[in-house]
Amino acid sequence: MDEKEKSGDAVRSVKEVAESEQKYRNLYEQSPDLLRSVDLDGVITDCNDAYAKNMGYSREESIGMSILDHTAERSITEMSIRFKEWKTSGNIIINKEIWLKRKDGTIFPTLLSGANIKDSAGNVTGRIVSLRDMTEVYNIRKTLEANNEKLQEQHYQMIELVKKLEDTNERLKKEKEQTAKLAIIGEKMSQMNHNLRNPLHVIMMNVEIMNIQAKKAGDNATISKIEHITNAADSMLVQIDELMSFIRDDTLELDNQSLNQIFEKAVNLVKIPQNISVQLPMQDIVCKCDPNKLQIVLMNLIANAKEMIQDNGKITIRSKEIKNEIVIEVEDSGPGIEDDNMPKIFELLFTTKKRGTGLGLPYCKNIIERHGGTISASTNPTVFTIVLPK
Ligand SMILES: Nc1ncnc2c1ncn2[C@@H]1O[C@H](COP(=O)(O)OP(=O)(O)O)[C@@H](O)[C@H]1O
Ligand SMILES: [Mg+2]
Repeated sequence: MDEKEKSGDAVRSVKEVAESEQKYRNLYEQSPDLLRSVDLDGVITDCNDAYAKNMGYSREESIGMSILDHTAERSITEMSIRFKEWKTSGNIIINKEIWLKRKDGTIFPTLLSGANIKDSAGNVTGRIVSLRDMTEVYNIRKTLEANNEKLQEQHYQMIELVKKLEDTNERLKKEKEQTAKLAIIGEKMSQMNHNLRNPLHVIMMNVEIMNIQAKKAGDNATISKIEHITNAADSMLVQIDELMSFIRDDTLELDNQSLNQIFEKAVNLVKIPQNISVQLPMQDIVCKCDPNKLQIVLMNLIANAKEMIQDNGKITIRSKEIKNEIVIEVEDSGPGIEDDNMPKIFELLFTTKKRGTGLGLPYCKNIIERHGGTISASTNPTVFTIVLPK
């Protein structure tokens, strides 16, 4: 190769270097990613247009600033660690999430990747860092997360709703069963009403004739026996009437009534044995209610209490007015209600007694609810609580 050729090559290679540098510059400038060059001290030595535009610093302003000046508070530690790592290992970094801080103080997420810049001897002199603006992706992620949370919440709400529907369904099913049972009971009771009432009337008519004859004869022993029979027959008729009122859908006859009077009548009719004491409220309350039906309710509660008290015991009846409600409590010193039975005691035909009917408490519930009130039970001690609207 002669001199001329050699100098030609040199010119060509200078030209080639210049061309490739231009190419690199174009690539650097035209990249949509934010690019910056950094020296070994973390000082910015160059940046592209995209970087300058996004950061709000001109290229000239950026050059000479530390990369930490361009890093958001939350990423400073991460950035310092990564930079130290790179300086000691020279390893390149790919896709690390780093938040940058613009000139106006706003911050945004980027994915940072770095490549080494080497001199002709192969020593690392700095690096080119590409920062991909992740603002949009980040916003989408945030929206997705928020949506996901909302969906999750809706999902839980749905589950709750389904559970409520199932409960309602279950309750309706039970109510339907109860209605069916009630219809059968109604039919049987009507028959029984007829079958008992007629013979009872026959007995009472004949007893009445015997009574007249005994009075004529002045037979006091027989008169006293007849009185017993009459009382017993009367009591049977009352009980039949009570049962019939249970199935008859008769309307309430509301009246302002003294509660204490109702309590006293109920206690007298239940016939409490000697070993059980009954305490009535000192203070009387006037209550708008159907007195006859409320009396049967009280009779049922008192009878239940009496039936549960084995030896000596006490039944306490309390009444109080709270705001626009009247509360009546019937407490007994009996053994209480078993936890398993608690949810069932107001169910039609539920009884734990050998000769029980399971009609008492459902009757009470029906009457109290028709008054617009509620009845509930608690145990330890056993208290039945009636709440009536004033
Ligand atoms: N005061 C009470 N103490 C304990 N258990 C009670 C009491 N009152 C009611 N119960 C329970 O509720 C059940 C249902 O009562 P009820 O409807 O009056 O029917 P019955 O008295 O015919 O059994 C009773 O069998 C009993 O298990
Ligand atoms: Mg009962």
